[in-house]
Amino acid sequence: MAILPIVQMGHPVLRISAESVADSEIAGLAALIADMDETMRDAPGVGLAAPQIGQSLRLLVYRVPADRLSADDDAPGDDQTRALINPVLEPLPGGLVYGWEGCLSMPGLRGLVPRHKALRFSGLDAQGQPVSGIARGFHARVLQHEVDHLDGILYIDRMPDLSWLSYNEQLEHFADRPQPEDGVK
Ligand code: NI
Repeated sequence: MAILPIVQMGHPVLRISAESVADSEIAGLAALIADMDETMRDAPGVGLAAPQIGQSLRLLVYRVPADRLSADDDAPGDDQTRALINPVLEPLPGGLVYGWEGCLSMPGLRGLVPRHKALRFSGLDAQGQPVSGIARGFHARVLQHEVDHLDGILYIDRMPDLSWLSYNEQLEHFADRPQPEDGVK
């Protein structure tokens, strides 16, 4: 396995729609998926999309550590790496919730981003088998962030108010600031 260089904001691969993966290509992705897992954990991060390592493919890896589970989260919190190929997300009713996000392609920064509280996800796993389920809370947030990478979208594009973008070292100044209300969409 290998730790891969992570592409930083400004590189055009982060701003284009990634190519769908053909069924015949999936078996050949095992080494890349293993490298993405190692790269994500080394960073450390909780998600990594293929464009972030310079591959314009609809492929992502993510994990849900137990200490990141939110109250309504239904993920196992087992910290296992999951790969998703050609993912599709369908938001469920319930509206949007604000939460802080960072991105390995924008190191040192955090932003407050509204995301759908719950969604249905589907796609293929690393073996090419269909997977689907309902994701809520942190699980849903990670999936929305990573699938956005496959469409050339960064979390800052989802922020209605960039005054909620901060360097990590300055986050303490937001502790007493009232957060925007969660919305309905
Ligand atoms: Ni990211």
